[in-house]
Amino acid sequence: MQKQLFRASVAHFPEATNSPQTDIVVFHDGALVVEGEKIIAIGDYHQLITEHSEASVQDHKGKWLLPGLVDSHLHYPQTEVMGRFGEQLLNWLENYTFPAEEKFSHPPYAQSMAKLFLGECLKNGTTTGLVFSTVHKDATDTLFRTASAINMALVAGKVCMDRNCPPALQDTAESARQDSVELISRWHNNGRNRYALTPRFAPTSTEAQMAALAEVASDHPDVFIQTHLSENLDEIDWVLSLYPDCKGYLDVYEKYNMVRPRAVFGHCIHMRDDEWSRMAETGATVAFCPSSNLFLGSGLFDLDAARHHGVKVALATDVGAGTSFNMLKTYGEAYKVCQLKHSPFPPLDGLYMMTQGAAVAHQLEEDIGNLNPGSYADFVLLEPRFSDLTALRLQNTESLQDVLFAMSILGDERAVEQTWIAGRCRYHKDKGVLF
Ligand code: GUN
Ligand code: ZN
Repeated sequence: MQKQLFRASVAHFPEATNSPQTDIVVFHDGALVVEGEKIIAIGDYHQLITEHSEASVQDHKGKWLLPGLVDSHLHYPQTEVMGRFGEQLLNWLENYTFPAEEKFSHPPYAQSMAKLFLGECLKNGTTTGLVFSTVHKDATDTLFRTASAINMALVAGKVCMDRNCPPALQDTAESARQDSVELISRWHNNGRNRYALTPRFAPTSTEAQMAALAEVASDHPDVFIQTHLSENLDEIDWVLSLYPDCKGYLDVYEKYNMVRPRAVFGHCIHMRDDEWSRMAETGATVAFCPSSNLFLGSGLFDLDAARHHGVKVALATDVGAGTSFNMLKTYGEAYKVCQLKHSPFPPLDGLYMMTQGAAVAHQLEEDIGNLNPGSYADFVLLEPRFSDLTALRLQNTESLQDVLFAMSILGDERAVEQTWIAGRCRYHKDKGVLF
């Protein structure tokens, strides 16, 4: 098999860590060697070029090569609702989001949107997403098929909801169970795909549906669970009125077996101390979605509280309430949220939460999130000096922290030169998305 050697400034976190500042590994004149779908070596260019002299070489000296970025919460049918003016969560869902999701009953539409959505991920260096589909089984199949065509490690699931949404978007307790089981058997651990049971959030499922999904969760202990938690104060009041037996919002999900490792809860803004403790004890993960939280006026995520309790945190865009597909910009928004809380959030912590930290939280670190030999060759090549302004800002700096921070504030998809998945280039700035 032909080996490929990529010369660049290379950085990653090889291990799980609570100290990203000290545990980042950087090779300023570095190289990554890829054989087939996998990474076989990482290190200094001059050493690796002698050890792998037969490899074909791509010289990107001066650019940055990082692990493919992981977006831990986003919605593929909401690509078209990004940037809709002026609502808070519940009105935004009703006025913009549900009507957009209804269109996914039409398979050709779902097919074209799946390609467009994954293309936007690739243009921004995102190589794995934890993705909400719609309620439609076919639209979910389409998303998995499209990701499989480029060998992308996708985690996704059919949304389940049987109340408090338009009739055209409702399933039932029984159909949600059957469709979810069918999709698990078709897609979970099929190639690089993983399945996520996806009750949208507590208000749109009846207790009968939650009970049905609880059984599926118990029967499949390694599938993901993804949903929303404590995003908005009106939402929380609504949940408490719909589930009078439960003493809090998280308690609803606990009652139905959904709080465990590989359970990923979007938002978690208005959390009680005991809820943070339960999140930590059960090994669940929060998806911190700063641009969405600012956009919908939901509130400021308390990163210090999550950390203080030892809860795993991964960064996420939450497209389409999120305002960008770009994970580095999303870190920039997280930085601003933390500034408002007077708690600085350094860029290497942000990078960790969109690479190795996310992979560890999702138990995927054998495959993604890092550049270790044996991991899939999912990576992004960045040119931080992509504009006059960023060239000016980054003159005379080689510091990864400084480069990342400048890109998170001044950058966007223009910084992404190439995105590689399993050893194949799937986005090239000059050629576009390569399906
Ligand atoms: N809560 C329930 N559904 C959604 C959604 O689609 N987006 C966001 N941000 N919150 C939700
Ligand atoms: Zn969401």
